[in-house]
Amino acid sequence: MNERVAVVTGGIGGLGTETCKALARAGRRVVAADLAARTERVEQFRAEVASFGDAITFEPLNVIDHNDCASLVERVRARYGAVSILVNAAGITRDTSLRKMDAAQWDDVIAVNLGGVFNLCRLVVDGMMAQGFGRIVNISSVNGQTGQFGQTNYSAAKAGMHGFTMARAREVAKKGVTVNSISPGYCDTPMVRAVPEDIRQQIVASIPVGRLGEPREIARTVAFLTDDDAGYITGANIPVNGGYFMSF
Ligand code: CAA
Repeated sequence: MNERVAVVTGGIGGLGTETCKALARAGRRVVAADLAARTERVEQFRAEVASFGDAITFEPLNVIDHNDCASLVERVRARYGAVSILVNAAGITRDTSLRKMDAAQWDDVIAVNLGGVFNLCRLVVDGMMAQGFGRIVNISSVNGQTGQFGQTNYSAAKAGMHGFTMARAREVAKKGVTVNSISPGYCDTPMVRAVPEDIRQQIVASIPVGRLGEPREIARTVAFLTDDDAGYITGANIPVNGGYFMSF
């Protein structure tokens, strides 16, 4: 087993939690980084991953704060070693049609979903290049490919992640570092459960597979892309959406 160090932002969230478990099962030492203010959820998370022992630990992080990100990366390096795997899964929605959207709803979504990717990637990349190994996975969304009513902010941020992913992949391609994105469709997470019931039912009815995705199905894709043998997949976007959006 190769105990590479993995950081998962949004690590206690719907997709993040299953991602932490999948990476720990793959023999990684996993740091789940997320808002400490979510105290109740932090405790639930700790209980949920207790059987993994030291393989999964929680660290407080606000991805929009560059200094906070720098402090996290340094703490992880001092305790466990340089970060080899980074999964950017921190994400928020502030859904509303553009005519009603205020500047804070725009700024917050761009800052967390896209700014957070910049902050973390910027901080881990030198260490990955020095190791000659790195795996970065950005959790984007099908709504960054198709757009969604009420999500000009979120769709812009998620589409931006694809451009970032491809540009960064080119910059590090010869250094053993891969950068990819995954575009989950509608999965059974608190974020999707917050969509009004009638709208959610319409969406599910339009998914060819006929159901929401399971977080473990996204986590499995993260584990695949971060495998030591996945070095020839870079700059790619992997759709995991039950056939909701098909393209070539
Ligand atoms: N499609 C088309 N028209 C719609 C619509 C939709 N989905 N939703 C509302 N409308 C219409 C309304 O009927 C209304 O029409 P009238 O003006 O003629 O009455 C008009 O658009 C304006 O509607 P609202 O004033 O209700 O719009 P709003 O600003 O309050 O926003 C909304 C509505 C909250 C965005 C609601 O449509 C919604 O929740 N949509 C779902 C958004 C969604 O799918 N979010 C995904 C979250 S999960 C996620 O993001 C994870 C992931 O990556 C997949």
